[in-house]
Amino acid sequence: MFDKDKKTIFSGIQPSGEFTIGNYFGAIKNWVDLQGDYNCIYFIADMHSLTVPQVPADLRRRTFECSAMLLAAGVDPDKSLLFVQSHVSAHAELCWILNCNSYMGEMSRMTQYKDKSAKQGENIRVGLFDYPVLMAADILLYNSDLVPVGADQTQHVELARNIAERFNNNYSPTFTVPEGYIPESGARIMSLADPTRKMSKSDENANAYILMKDPRDVIISKFKKAVTDSGHEIVHDRENKPGISNLLEIYACVCGKSVKEAEADFATSSYADFKLAVGEAVADRLAPIQSEFDRLVKDKQYVMDILKDGSEKASAIAARVLDKVKRKVGYLQF
Ligand code: TYM
Repeated sequence: MFDKDKKTIFSGIQPSGEFTIGNYFGAIKNWVDLQGDYNCIYFIADMHSLTVPQVPADLRRRTFECSAMLLAAGVDPDKSLLFVQSHVSAHAELCWILNCNSYMGEMSRMTQYKDKSAKQGENIRVGLFDYPVLMAADILLYNSDLVPVGADQTQHVELARNIAERFNNNYSPTFTVPEGYIPESGARIMSLADPTRKMSKSDENANAYILMKDPRDVIISKFKKAVTDSGHEIVHDRENKPGISNLLEIYACVCGKSVKEAEADFATSSYADFKLAVGEAVADRLAPIQSEFDRLVKDKQYVMDILKDGSEKASAIAARVLDKVKRKVGYLQF
C-alpha cells in the first residue's frame, strides 16, 4: 500500500461527540483529498478523549461510529491506513519517553490547555496537561512529513516539531520533523451563533454548530438562524463582517470555489437568500455521506475488520521507530 517515494501524511481526530462541519472542512475533507498523492495514516484519538471525563460505553460506541463516519466521508481503506489509537500501544510508550524530553514551561504555554483547564476547576487532570506530548508521540511514531489539521492545532504541531528537533539534537537524527498542513479555506470554521468563536461540538447552543449527522431540515434551519452582520452586502471581511465571512468560507469549501467566486455568486442576493443557499449546499454535500454512514454502522464487522487491519499495519510501522528510540535512550535490549 505504501510507496517509498511518497511523503507521509498523518492526522487524527477525537471521538468526543459527533463531528461538526468544522472537523469536516478543517480536517476530514483534506484527508480524503490528499489520498493517492501521499502515504496516508489516519486515526481515532480515543486516548486523547480520556483527558476529560467519559462514560465508557459511550466512548466505545463513539469510537466505532466515528470510524464509520470517516469511511463514509471518503477515507478509503485501499489507499489509507485507518486505526484506533489505543490499539497501538507504541503511542503510550513513546509518550513516556517524550515526556522525559519535554519541559513544564513549554507545556504551560499551550493555549488549548489553558482554555480547557479553566473549565475543569480544581481537579485538573495530568492527562490534559500532557496531551500535546501524546500528540507529538502520535505524529513522530510514523515519520510523518505533513500533518493536515485545522488552525486550532497549529501550536500542538509546532510543539511536536520542537520535541523532534530536541530529541534529534540530544541523541542523533531519529525523527522526521513534521510540517503542519493548514487548508487555505476551512481552517477555522466559526460558530453560527457567535462568529468570533470557533465552531465546536462542545458549544452549549446547538444552533452554533452543524453536525455531520444533522438532518437536512435542521441544517437549513440552523443556517437561517445564523448570526449575520449589519449592512446588506455579501462580502468577505473577517474583521467587520465575521458572520457573512464565515458563511462565505463555508460555501466556498462546499463548492470547491474561491471566496471571491463565492462573493460573485451572491453579489445581488439578500442575506436571507444567501443563508438559505449556504444551508442547502451544505445539506446536499452531507446527504450522501449520511446515507453511507447509516449503511456502514449496520455493517459492524466490515468496519471492525478495517480497524483491525489498520492497527496491525500501524503497529508494525510504529514498532520500528519505537525500537530505534528505545535503543537511543539506553533501554537494555535482548
Ligand atoms: P479534534 O478532534 O479537536 O479535531 C479534529 C480536527 O478538526 C479540526 N477542527 C476544525 N477545523 C476548522 N474549524 C473548526 N471549527 C474546527 N474544529 C476542529 C481540528 O483542527 C483537527 O484537525 N488533538 C487533535 C487530535 C489529534 C491529532 C494528533 C491530530 C491527536 N493526535 C496527531 C493530528 C496529529 C484534536 O483534538 O482534534
